[in-house]
Amino acid sequence: PQAPGAVFFIFGATGDLARRKLFPAIYSLYREGKLTEDFAVIGVARRPRTPSEFHEDVMESIREFSRYPVADEEEWARFVDHFEYKSLDINNIDGFRELREQTEAIERKFGIAGGRLFYLALAPELFGGVSFNLKAGGMLDGPGWNRLVIEKPFGYNLESARELNEQINQVFKEEEIYRIDHYLGKEMVQNIEVIRFANAFFEPLWNKQHIANIQITLGETVGVEERGGYYDHSGALRDMAQNHMLQLLTMIAMEPPSRLLAEDIRDEKVKVLRSLRPFSSSDEVRKNVVRGQYTQGLFKGKTLPAYRQEDKVNPESTTETYFAARVFVDNFRWAGVPFYIRTGKRLPVKTTEVVVEFKRMPTNVYLGQKHNLEPNLLVIRVNPMEGIYVKINAKKPGSESEIQPLAMDFCQSCMVGINSPEAYERLLHDAVRGDSTYFTRWDEVSSAWSFVDKIAEAWQESAGDLASYPAGTWGPVEADQLLAQDGFHWWPVN
Ligand code: BG6
Repeated sequence: PQAPGAVFFIFGATGDLARRKLFPAIYSLYREGKLTEDFAVIGVARRPRTPSEFHEDVMESIREFSRYPVADEEEWARFVDHFEYKSLDINNIDGFRELREQTEAIERKFGIAGGRLFYLALAPELFGGVSFNLKAGGMLDGPGWNRLVIEKPFGYNLESARELNEQINQVFKEEEIYRIDHYLGKEMVQNIEVIRFANAFFEPLWNKQHIANIQITLGETVGVEERGGYYDHSGALRDMAQNHMLQLLTMIAMEPPSRLLAEDIRDEKVKVLRSLRPFSSSDEVRKNVVRGQYTQGLFKGKTLPAYRQEDKVNPESTTETYFAARVFVDNFRWAGVPFYIRTGKRLPVKTTEVVVEFKRMPTNVYLGQKHNLEPNLLVIRVNPMEGIYVKINAKKPGSESEIQPLAMDFCQSCMVGINSPEAYERLLHDAVRGDSTYFTRWDEVSSAWSFVDKIAEAWQESAGDLASYPAGTWGPVEADQLLAQDGFHWWPVN
């Protein structure tokens, strides 16, 4: 469906997110007819930029990062005409008043009915101030709706997240706030719901009676790149686990919602977060959580530096670049089923994958025949491969009774012509249409922080628990032991 007309305000328009994700996403929506002529983009940042310089920036971003090639000259001119720039000191209300005039003019120019979407691709310390000044500068007095879209990190812990939320809440209502977790915009993450709730042969098995454990892996091959300053303060727990990882877990573990409406789905997700068994002591954390940091390693013939040698990282840093944990969802459906989650930088593969390991057959009638039956697996591949596969046991063709595991594989990303939309395309489109299903609600964010804070606190007491792993490997051995203690192992990632 087409989005209703709106002005997109991109605060941080000269930054990395705008360049890599937001401009290309807007372009894709336009190319696909999901945005028509009644839209405009006002890029806002401190640095001065002439209109033509800004148009150049947009063009370069799309050349480099878009799924669609830049259109012919005429079409390009029509598209880029919707883009304006405003150099603004966000502490100066006068600038916001000027922005208001500029906005009204552009709304008239393109016949936009007044919807205003404020995307803050900024450091979270600035969210509160910008919100106040939007209000004080009259930017929220237009004839249409106002929505605030914000990026992570949403706070550093529960307390700071709460402060941030209170500031924003003085200006925007919860239903006007769209908190981005870009993992929720990924095609296969959204597909988890369909796989679960539209297939008669998964849902009946989706519980402790039939599932032995669930493994969620978010692996990255990159190190911290040029983000050492941010990352060294954050670490894998806050950067990936508090948000992307726990969100993925909620999608896997939630109850079927009664209706597919945003609030119903988010109600179910927050129940999962509230059911996470909290770690009650440092000892519990030590037993169930592994944190690691990469050391120098050799990968594909290249020497990769240790984390502590990375740019803008404290040479004595104890920040974790790897996180693994055994967590339990204490409700009727999942009692006793371990969820093993792990994420890390400088692992051998870039992948996001969920493995559902089913329980073994009650008796193995093939035991006498030296067969060690493998359990059935359902593997959901989110990224970069998209698809699902199911591992079953079958007779080896031509043999007497030899059994072999066999994969029934559906590879969505292998299909010709499939070019899944980027997460940001989907999320921007949803936000402008007022669909908040795949954005995180405050109670989700705060429950996730409560869970994560306990881990962070325990780590603070015992900096000595930091394990290490050579860059380019699958993380510390302690993470393997975590599963081995329960008689399981990580299933290899493809
Ligand atoms: C971001 C993290 O939220 O997600 C980054 O801050 C990480 O550290 C990125 O690299 C991973 O996203 P994706 O979509 O590439 O898996």
